Amino acid sequence: MTEATKRCKVAVLISGSGSNLQALIDAQLNQSIVIDIVHVISNRPGVAGLERAEKAGIPTTVLDHKAFADRLQFDQALIKVIDNSQADLVVLAGFMRILTPEFVRHFQGKMLNIHPSLLPKYPGLHTHQRALDAGDKQHGVTVHFVTEELDGGPPVIQASVPVNADDTADSLARKVQKQEHIIYPMAVAWFAEGRLNMENETAFLDGEPLAKHGYQVVSS
Ligand code: GRF
Repeated sequence: MTEATKRCKVAVLISGSGSNLQALIDAQLNQSIVIDIVHVISNRPGVAGLERAEKAGIPTTVLDHKAFADRLQFDQALIKVIDNSQADLVVLAGFMRILTPEFVRHFQGKMLNIHPSLLPKYPGLHTHQRALDAGDKQHGVTVHFVTEELDGGPPVIQASVPVNADDTADSLARKVQKQEHIIYPMAVAWFAEGRLNMENETAFLDGEPLAKHGYQVVSS
C-alpha cells in the first residue's frame, strides 16, 4: 500500500497513559510510517492517552464500558465506532478489556495487540513480576495478531531484554516499554505497507510465514 494508492487508516484503542499511541503519533508525524491515525477510542474517561490524541488533532471517543449492560453490548457499540472511522487496522495499545469472540471475528486479520511478555509466556496480567518470580534471564514484549484466545494470536515481533539481578517489576517495565515503542511502529508499518497479514492463524511477512515467536529483536 503506497501513499499514492491508499494510506492505511488506523484506529487505536487505549485505556490509559497511551505511550504506545504516542510512539505511533510520533512515527506518523516524522513520516517513518505512512498511516493515518483516524480515531482514538478509550473505555476510560480522562486518561492521558486521550490528551495525547487531542494534542495531535486526532478525533477521540470515550466509550465507557460501565455504561453498558454487558460485554457484548459494549463490544457491539465499539464495532460501530470503529467501523464509522473506516479503519483498515485496529491497534490495541494498552486496551484493558477482554474482547468477545464476535468483536475479534469482526476484525479478524486486521487487529494487533502488544503484550508485555515473551508470549506464549505469561498471558494476562503482572507479567514483569511473573518473569522475576520465575527467575527468567530474558523478558520482553510481543506484538501479535488478535485471535479469540487471550494473548494467544500469532506473534509478529518479539523484543527481548535481559533481566538483571537488581531488576524490579518497575525497572523491567521501563526496559520493556522502551522496546514497545520501537516494535509497535515497526509492526504497524509492515501492515500499512501491505507486507504483513494473517491467514489461518499464521502471521506472514512478505508472503513468508513468520517464525513461531515472530521476528526477533534482541536488546542488550
Ligand atoms: C503496555 O505495557 C502494553 O504492553 C500493555 O499495556 C501497556 C500500555 O501502555 N498492553 P501505554 O498506555 O501504551 O503507555
